[in-house]
Amino acid sequence: MTELAATFQQEAVAEAYQHRPPYPDEVFDRLEALITDEPRRVLDIGAGEGAIARPLAPRVEHVDAIDFSQPMVDAGKQRPGGDHPNLSWQVSPIETADLDGPYALVTAGASVHWMPWEETFARIVPHLTPNAQLVVIEHGPVDMPWWDGVMQAIERHSRKKNHDPKFSVVEAIRERGLLDLSGTARTAPITYRQKVADYVEQFHSTSSLARDLMTPEEAADFDTTVEEAVRPYAKDGVLELKIEAELSWGRPRA
Ligand SMILES: C[S@@+](CC[C@H](N)C(=O)[O-])C[C@H]1O[C@@H](n2cnc3c(N)ncnc32)[C@H](O)[C@@H]1O
Repeated sequence: MTELAATFQQEAVAEAYQHRPPYPDEVFDRLEALITDEPRRVLDIGAGEGAIARPLAPRVEHVDAIDFSQPMVDAGKQRPGGDHPNLSWQVSPIETADLDGPYALVTAGASVHWMPWEETFARIVPHLTPNAQLVVIEHGPVDMPWWDGVMQAIERHSRKKNHDPKFSVVEAIRERGLLDLSGTARTAPITYRQKVADYVEQFHSTSSLARDLMTPEEAADFDTTVEEAVRPYAKDGVLELKIEAELSWGRPRA
């Protein structure tokens, strides 16, 4: 576990996570369409508080949601759909999790870059159905005219130094010989309206901007800088965000 991945164990990060934007519904339509085997069981790795697992559970036979952060799993159980009968939670590193396959789909929403790939793939591949796919999903707001101002705050306060915006986790996994990529897709944008205060707070759900990594003064400086950057674009204290998601899928190899 890297030092930054450990921040997901913090209660404040799990609390702030509810302010991240939802995945567009199209993500779940596409995930469902990628299941071609029976049983329609899904393994969600690095499930967090279930942003993928909770909406997917009623659409399939079962979802096993695995995450090594107890606070994230506890938050997920309390969130809408967190107690669905098709959904099981397990607090464990994926590398050593108890798996109850076979799984016809494996989902990884903003999580696989945190994991030790060889150990993770060695653990999951024996539990897959013959045509099961691994889907890596990323999402977030696009076309933000306020972004330069927000970037200043991120660059000043982020604990993640030397961030490479061109890094592609899917490419890196392919280069290791661990994924036969068979498709990619980008969803149509959805509109998501969010209070400025909640937009600011969701940054503290990221591993590199967690509140517990900052002094109260530093967190206040971050919040003020972001708020000032976005305020001119808000109407009655609410921002309109355009959210898109990207999916990449293929057959994982051990
Ligand atoms: C950015 S969050 C994504 C959560 C969720 N999939 C989503 O899309 O919102 C990344 C999650 O991966 C979990 N994680 C990181 N490394 C892990 C590992 N080796 N085993 C299990 N969970 C892990 C973290 O605890 C965190 O909850």
